[in-house]
Amino acid sequence: MSALLSRIATLPAQFQAVHATLRNPVDALPEAVFHDRLVERHLARQHIVYVCAPDLIREALVTQSSKLDKGEGLRRAIGPGLGEGLLTAEGAHWRWQRQALAPVFRASGIGAFLPAMTRATAHCVASLAAEGGIVAIDDVMMRLTGRIIIETMLSAPDAVDADAMARGLGVFLHQTRWSLLGDLLGTPEWLPHPGKARGRAAAQALRAEALTQIGMRRKLLDSHPADAPDDLLARLLSARDPETGRQMHDSEIVDNLLTFLTAGHETTALALAWTFDRLGRHPEILRAVQQEIDSTLTDDAPGMEQLDKLELTRNVLRESMRLTPPAPIIIREVKEAFTLDSVTLEKGTRLVVPIYALHRHRALWDAPEVFDPARFLPQEGKDRPQDDRYAYMPFGAGPRVCIGARFAETEALLVLAMTLKELTLTPELRVTPPGKMEITLRPAKPLLMSVKTRQ
Ligand code: HEM
Repeated sequence: MSALLSRIATLPAQFQAVHATLRNPVDALPEAVFHDRLVERHLARQHIVYVCAPDLIREALVTQSSKLDKGEGLRRAIGPGLGEGLLTAEGAHWRWQRQALAPVFRASGIGAFLPAMTRATAHCVASLAAEGGIVAIDDVMMRLTGRIIIETMLSAPDAVDADAMARGLGVFLHQTRWSLLGDLLGTPEWLPHPGKARGRAAAQALRAEALTQIGMRRKLLDSHPADAPDDLLARLLSARDPETGRQMHDSEIVDNLLTFLTAGHETTALALAWTFDRLGRHPEILRAVQQEIDSTLTDDAPGMEQLDKLELTRNVLRESMRLTPPAPIIIREVKEAFTLDSVTLEKGTRLVVPIYALHRHRALWDAPEVFDPARFLPQEGKDRPQDDRYAYMPFGAGPRVCIGARFAETEALLVLAMTLKELTLTPELRVTPPGKMEITLRPAKPLLMSVKTRQ
């Protein structure tokens, strides 16, 4: 009886926590995750363990990775769109796909995607320069990275409506937080929630479009193989499990096209939008970045070697992803018990790596709230968090680390360089708005910036 009464007594606090999580999971992080190593909470029926120390993150995401999976919540939220692609698959089905897709994203092959990235960026910069005025840079970047991922996947800028696809993806993703919350509360999956039917319809339309594209490509490969482009779709069609030689069926290719579209589009757009905003608030750093770009980019279509030389620009991007990591929280479900820092994580425990808090952790970073790209300059003889694989991890860590990290960095550097070579962007908002998590970390208000052509 007394146990029941004490559970009832905690209900208002639980309700508040659930409400805060629904509003913005980043705001709902317990304050202790910014200074402690490990934090435990109970929310609804869940035991939640926040892991906030690099050694414990390594232990969890690497050493104990076989005892974790991505959990029912993720499958429930994005499974209807992404099926069992690389992001959502588990076990053997994940492993063979990861092995088959690893060569697709190898650093040496990324250069092949540069022409499509350059084409889309040049088009975006030209229209910004022509129109000038005030833009919401987050919207502009969403459209640009949407176009880039679709062109690098399908090489069909005119055959598909990239903007409509990106919009459809937005409709689908927007309602996923209700599914994540439903999982946390243990409500049945069939329960309706706001936007569910529209989200499902949008996902089905995207899947149907992807299937059409695959059919067209297979026909082209049969009739005129020499005309078939070398893009992500081509690489998915020819990807093989190195152990068994198995290739993907059409539905598995659809799963992964939707996965790349989802995982590779918003994240990169947000990394860029937050970076433009930060740079606009630090004119002296912006000037130095523009000088670096002017002296490095000697022609209109930068190659990989030129991008590699943009050291300051790369450090600005890294520092921006420290303060506003586009994927701010990693969640796992424990499927086999293990112990972490003398806390037992039973089967069913939810393990959270709050990347957002880790990147601002008071025990790890000096002046964590300050934007200072110089932290990433090489320095000798110091133990620095930015060099620790498990203290700075915008792309995650362990076997499920982002497969597109190199692709994303190349794309983001190219977009920053080509844009800032021609334009100067200045924030219109007085301060950077807070981040609001909807799977990714979006600005709570549109990032309005004024656009001026450089002399
Ligand atoms: C700045 C941009 C990006 C950021 C910050 C980012 C971040 C992440 C993070 C944190 C994870 C790990 C999630 C977890 O452990 O639960 C991840 C996984 C993944 N990312 Fe990215 N990502 C970015 C761009 C991309 C791009 C461009 C692509 C593809 C074109 C991509 C494809 C994927 C895939 C397929 C996975 C799942 C990998 C697996 O489970 O084996 N990402 N990403």
